Amino acid sequence: MGDNRLKARPRRQLRQVTLVLGVCLVLYCLFFLSNTPAKFGDESRTSQAKPSSRHPPSELLNNLSLGEDECDAAFPGLTKEIDDTVAEGPFRVKQTGDGGPVQGRIRDGQITIIHAQRKNDLSAEMVNSRTAALHQLHRAILTSPAPLPDTIFTLNFQDQPFGTAWTYSRAVDPAFRSKDANTRSFLMPHFSFWAWNLPFIGSMSRAAHAITSLEREYAGPGGWQRKIGKAVWRGTAWFNSVHSPRMRQKLMTTARGKPWADVETLAWTNTVSGRNASNALPIEDFCRYKYVVHTEGITYSGRFQFLQMCASVVLTPPLQWVQHTTHLVRPLFSSTLDLGPETEERARHRWVPSERIRRGWPVQYDPDQANIVFVAPDWSDLEQTVAWLEAHPKVAEGIARRQRDLFVGGGYFSPAAETCYWRALVRGWAKVAQIEGEGWEGKEGVTFEAFSLKNGE
Ligand SMILES: *[C@@H]1O[C@H](CO)[C@@H](O)[C@H](O)[C@H]1NC(C)=O
Ligand SMILES: *[C@@H]1O[C@H](CO)[C@@H](O)[C@H](O)[C@H]1NC(C)=O
Repeated sequence: MGDNRLKARPRRQLRQVTLVLGVCLVLYCLFFLSNTPAKFGDESRTSQAKPSSRHPPSELLNNLSLGEDECDAAFPGLTKEIDDTVAEGPFRVKQTGDGGPVQGRIRDGQITIIHAQRKNDLSAEMVNSRTAALHQLHRAILTSPAPLPDTIFTLNFQDQPFGTAWTYSRAVDPAFRSKDANTRSFLMPHFSFWAWNLPFIGSMSRAAHAITSLEREYAGPGGWQRKIGKAVWRGTAWFNSVHSPRMRQKLMTTARGKPWADVETLAWTNTVSGRNASNALPIEDFCRYKYVVHTEGITYSGRFQFLQMCASVVLTPPLQWVQHTTHLVRPLFSSTLDLGPETEERARHRWVPSERIRRGWPVQYDPDQANIVFVAPDWSDLEQTVAWLEAHPKVAEGIARRQRDLFVGGGYFSPAAETCYWRALVRGWAKVAQIEGEGWEGKEGVTFEAFSLKNGE
């Protein structure tokens, strides 16, 4: 493709090989789909690692009761995070008391809660996340076509990972992880798969429906050009990571008021019905833009998976935190693009991914394979990257469509995949969690049903 000249030449051969493999895959899929429609159970688990380019039918994506083999066949690679953590080997499930994560037992399909913080000690957001996570687990157990193993679980519903628990995110960089041999981060699906009490979000399924109907307006020829050719962002400027302080303020100084950007800080309001922001965009309206800027917070950002449902190009500094499906992103690094003649200005904006970034993201993808763009961590080439994408609309559209195609079309954010994932999490955890000798015997707790009446919202 003459219009996207890369700096990194040695990858051209690789690209040709990938192209040939891609053609083979397409032929294989055509063959597979035309011969054996919807026979997902027949595919063995050997093709696990590679995400599929097939689109499971919507009845399947809404089916909460897929068996383990059906899950693996429909969503290849979905459980990679769990598999990797199980491979780290056994660990002890210690009692954390009533001041930390929620700890409970699963026995014969019944959840009981043994340790939990008092509701009054938690913020409304934390009650939202704890309530949602327990309901998600409960739903996945109720809809399981086969019994799940008994176990004792530790569920960390805070944003910050700590200790051994089910948790929302972990650091990408292996060097950043805990040195404690007993520490494990088992990633769990975000609470917004249940619901998120922000009026402009609602829940994954509400947003998924809204985004699907919005994206219909932009499907087909000329659709991409009708999207707004600017980079959009709304957020809270003071919310920053210790690893990249002032990241959001820098975004504001780089992009606010620029003709290629639509960025604003959120003006939060507290109302009786909860938090809202006067200049918030409903999350689906981000998909009206060709480019969507993503910023991590103190850790991961729960917005990310919503932006990933858009057929828009997500522009973000290299992600430092991963959620349960983040391993499926295929980053194009803006540092590999030819962003214009080498001027002094340009030289100042050139960036080279640091050692730490390359440890976390060892593979860089070509423009015609990527589904996300990583820009300079200090946003210094954001403007040039947007300009490059505007000058290469086919490439930009390809990146945007591959993202939606994988996460929505491939069903990785579907209700079916979510329940598949929770059940795999329970099975994976139970395989390596050691409970004996930690004083759990005789600890019965209260049933989830009773707990949720008292502690839910
Ligand atoms: C959901 O999948 C299960 C397992 O394959 C199947 O038995 C059931 O009939 C499906 N339900 C619906 C509503 O399609
Ligand atoms: C939230 O704020 C927006 C913008 O001011 C407004 O349109 C919307 O009705 C508000 N929603 C709620 C539930 O207060």
